[in-house]
Amino acid sequence: MLTPTQLDQYNSNGFLLIENFVASQSCDSLRARANELVAEFDPADVVSIFSTNEQNRIADQYFLESSDKIRFFFEEDAFRSDGTLKQPKAQSINKIGHGLHDRDKTFAQFSRDENIQELVSDLGLTNPLLMQSMYIFKQPNIGGEVSCHQDSTFLYTDPNAIAGLWFALEDATIENGCLWAIRGGHHEGLKSRWVRNPEGGMKFINFNEKDWTMARLVPLEVSKGTLIVLHGLLPHLSRQNRSARSRHAYTLHVISGDVDYPDDNWLQRSSEFPARGF
Ligand code: FE2
Repeated sequence: MLTPTQLDQYNSNGFLLIENFVASQSCDSLRARANELVAEFDPADVVSIFSTNEQNRIADQYFLESSDKIRFFFEEDAFRSDGTLKQPKAQSINKIGHGLHDRDKTFAQFSRDENIQELVSDLGLTNPLLMQSMYIFKQPNIGGEVSCHQDSTFLYTDPNAIAGLWFALEDATIENGCLWAIRGGHHEGLKSRWVRNPEGGMKFINFNEKDWTMARLVPLEVSKGTLIVLHGLLPHLSRQNRSARSRHAYTLHVISGDVDYPDDNWLQRSSEFPARGF
C-alpha cells in the first residue's frame, strides 16, 4: 500500500497525505449515514459539550462511557444563553463518537476495509486494534477550534504505537477549518497525558512544555477523499469554521495490540465487548 518514499515522508514529517484514498461515493455514503444517525438522535436525551480547549473539561459520564457507543456531542457555540439551539440540530453537532466502527454497519464496513488494514500493517502496527472512531462535522459558522494537541495524550500506549487516520469527506481548506501540523514535531516527545483521576473525572499530567506557536504549524489543505495519516506524537490542531461550508471528516485511531495500553487512559473497553482488529 505505501511506497518507501511515503513511509520516509511519514517518518520524517509525522504525517502523510494520500489523495483519492476514499472514493467520492464512499465519502457521500458516510455523510449520508451520519446525517441519518443525527436525524434519529433526540437532543433531549442528553446534552454534552465537547471542547479540548477546556483544559479542565468536565469529564462527564456521557463522554467517558462512549468508547463502544454511538454518542453525540454538540458544538460549544451551538446554544443561546437560554439553552435553545441557534441552528437546526443537524448543524449543531460537533461530533459523533467513539464506537461507530463497532456499532454501525456502514462505518464498521468502511473502517475494516482491506486497504486500511494494509496501510496500518505498512505503518508497522502489529496485531492492530481499532480503538476509536469519530465523525467530525466542523459545522458552518459555529465549528469550534481544536487546540494544538497530540493524539497520544488521549490514547497513550507504551511504547508509542498509534496512528490516527483522518479521512476528508469534503474538501478541507484554511477557510473551513482544515488540520494544521508541526512538520517533524513528533520527534519532540510527548507533552502530556490525559488520565483518569482515582477520585473520578480526568486530569492532565504534564511532562514538558513545548513550543507550539502558530508560526510552526503548516496547513494541511486537502481535497475530498484524501486520507491524512497522523503519528500519535504529531502536534496538530484545527481552527474554527466561520465559513458557510461544513468540513466533514471521519477519523479512526488504531493501536498495536502488542504494547501496553494503561488502565488510566480515558477510553476503556469492557471484557464483554473488547477492541477488535480488522
Ligand atoms: Fe487529534
